[in-house]
Amino acid sequence: MPATIIDGKAVAASIRQDAAERAARFKEEYGRAPGLAVVIVGDDPASRVYVNSKKKACAGCSIYSEEHTLPANVAETELLDLVRRLNSDPKIDGILVQLPLPDHISEDKVIETIAPAKDVDGFHPINVGNLVVGKPALRPCTPAGIMELIRRTGVELKGKHAVVVGRSNIVGKPVALMLLAQHATVTICHSRTVDLPSVCRTADVLVAAVGRPEMIKGDWIKPGAVVIDVGVNRIAEKKLVGDVDFDGASAVAAAITPVPGGVGPMTIAMLMQNCVEAAFAAQR
Ligand code: GUN
Repeated sequence: MPATIIDGKAVAASIRQDAAERAARFKEEYGRAPGLAVVIVGDDPASRVYVNSKKKACAGCSIYSEEHTLPANVAETELLDLVRRLNSDPKIDGILVQLPLPDHISEDKVIETIAPAKDVDGFHPINVGNLVVGKPALRPCTPAGIMELIRRTGVELKGKHAVVVGRSNIVGKPVALMLLAQHATVTICHSRTVDLPSVCRTADVLVAAVGRPEMIKGDWIKPGAVVIDVGVNRIAEKKLVGDVDFDGASAVAAAITPVPGGVGPMTIAMLMQNCVEAAFAAQR
């Protein structure tokens, strides 16, 4: 039987709807909307697209947003000063500095300057540390979105083997920790893993986040597995593909995310959720 296609667009819409309802409740209780500050440095076209969609999503969720655009040659101190001002701005509950930053600016320094309670990307070491030890934290958006998609398939993670291909700080490592917190047995694979296909074949849940077009083939998939494809690879002007060979994998898997329309839309939806979460938490 062909796999169920996991409709990330629909799930993301329902999460945004829920965030909008909670944002309205917040406004009723506290007399203002939750607020997100988005900081963009330079004019990278991809970053511009992301920032525009984040602002649009805020508008759709009744979340106040403001954009701070700085030139590509801005001094690091100026960016850090802006972040500090936003840290103490009572209208602002979430701060997102769009990455990547120009080479002369330390991304680590910028992330570490964001107040952990306003770090809606979940990148601050305090939030990462809380995730590691299983304490409540603002969680990075893409991994949180992946977990929501897996949850909605109805698959029980307890005791299952989850294989994460990719060990980035933004996706691979945090999603592995989240799967572990749900009592999966977790294997993290990467470019030096020996016999990757064999490891993948043992996965009840496979998360692919390597950034290589269609690297993971249908015959690497265990029959009945849940496959989450985080890859977004442009192979032609109008053609995006994931890290998984979709046609091959969907003939074997029980459920699979498409690219586009799978994990992608979830990132911004979870960002909206984090903004509302951060706003309520600041009032507690
Ligand atoms: N650039 C690409 N993805 C992201 C993200 O999730 N957050 C930020 N801040 N920058 C990004």
